Amino acid sequence: GKANIGVVGLAVMGSNLARNLASREGNTVAILNRSYEKTQKLLDEHPEAGFLPARDYEEFAATLAKPRTAIIMVKAGRGTDAVIDELVRVFEPGDIIVDGGNALFTDTIRREKAVRETGINFVGAGISGGEEGALNGPSIMPGGSAEAWQTLGPILRSIAAVAEGEPCVTHVGTDGAGHFVKMIHNGIEYADMQLIAEAYDLIRRGTGKSPAEIADIFAEWNRGELESYLIEITAEVLRQTDPATGEPLVDVILDQAGAKGTGAWTVQTALDLGVPVSGIAEAVFARSLSSKPAQRAAAAELPGPDGTFDIHDADAFVEDVRQALYASKIIAYSQGFDAIVAGAEQYGWDIKKGDIAAIWRGGCIIRAQFLNRITEAYAADPGLVALVTAPYFADAVTRTQQAWRRVVVAAAEAGIPSPAFSSSLAYYDGLRADRLPAALVQGQRDFFGAHTYKRIDREGTFHTLWSGDRSEVSAVDTH
Ligand code: 6PG
Repeated sequence: GKANIGVVGLAVMGSNLARNLASREGNTVAILNRSYEKTQKLLDEHPEAGFLPARDYEEFAATLAKPRTAIIMVKAGRGTDAVIDELVRVFEPGDIIVDGGNALFTDTIRREKAVRETGINFVGAGISGGEEGALNGPSIMPGGSAEAWQTLGPILRSIAAVAEGEPCVTHVGTDGAGHFVKMIHNGIEYADMQLIAEAYDLIRRGTGKSPAEIADIFAEWNRGELESYLIEITAEVLRQTDPATGEPLVDVILDQAGAKGTGAWTVQTALDLGVPVSGIAEAVFARSLSSKPAQRAAAAELPGPDGTFDIHDADAFVEDVRQALYASKIIAYSQGFDAIVAGAEQYGWDIKKGDIAAIWRGGCIIRAQFLNRITEAYAADPGLVALVTAPYFADAVTRTQQAWRRVVVAAAEAGIPSPAFSSSLAYYDGLRADRLPAALVQGQRDFFGAHTYKRIDREGTFHTLWSGDRSEVSAVDTH
């Protein structure tokens, strides 16, 4: 027989996804890789999968039943375009090409448009969960046409993670919607990771507890409202001892965080959309700062507290940090969903926010019980203007905000960098302020550039004649 699905690109993610597909009832999987050695290796190692190997694109196309469906699993970038060109050459109208890489959503929009002209469907699908997720069940965020989803939906549902009985996949929206949402997922992932890292740092410096002791704290937190994959693996990482030195592994890992770009994309996109994703931005910048050894060395002797501080009640401090983490996490998700709302509006996608939170409950890196609360919030009010104002989240920040402030104050006083904690709090206070100094900024803009301003007491647009008699005139709104 023929294959109902194919995978192109057999590095770890591709091989694991192919094995996942093959393990599900009803799937026969065609596989293709640039070099046949990898194909042969996968065949040898996993005879149980019943793969149908292809040596080139012609053979790959001939191996697939119509409509042909193929998932590309190559490193995002130029390589993706090359594979798409080859598939377009051998596929026919009605066939489906899926890009399962971490593509930039604007590339996906461009590719979808170009491929659609050939009559072939193109689906950009965000896939989260790392190697393990690809093998056992990732969270999948496909975009593309409703027509493609008809064929693809059952296949993706068969391999996705399952959360509370539901597969972690939904048709996100047309063209680039899936990759857009995956990008925001990664932005939230960056913020979540940075917040956890700051919590660890504060507890360690504040209480002098060892990484192993802090691992126990995270394991404990993982049984409460912070329950999540990232908290769980944090405990594992902190508990790990370096076999070579016997030191905690976290103490021998170089403190310079890498990044492959999806966090930066989230922030760049949010800047263009005018959405303040400040927690995510600080997380991206914290990685950049960490990776500037020359600047850090040059600044090492600058004055300031040395990062040690005396905590009288360690348990109370740990609890404060837990609450600050929860509050800041709510802000990160609130900002991420704001970006989804703004992106959906800008690009014309009908994205169901509650469904996105639901498919993030399993498989993906930010998976957590907590996401149910987001689904509920959007179910109760689909037009919710800011997640943090939904009753559950408003209650949570009401309950935690004093601890949050204490932690940010303690960090500032002790000289411990807490960019994500403190910027999240500043965002929260900015959002709830009845008056912002933005009024003064408007005054300054009007002074030097006649940029005009609006008044609180009258309709219209105004300008003060700053270099004249300083009287106010009505003006044309030029922003
Ligand atoms: C996932 C991850 C995955 C990967 C990212 C982030 O959802 O499975 O987000 O896509 O870990 O590329 O990696 P960086 O931290 O290197 O940017």
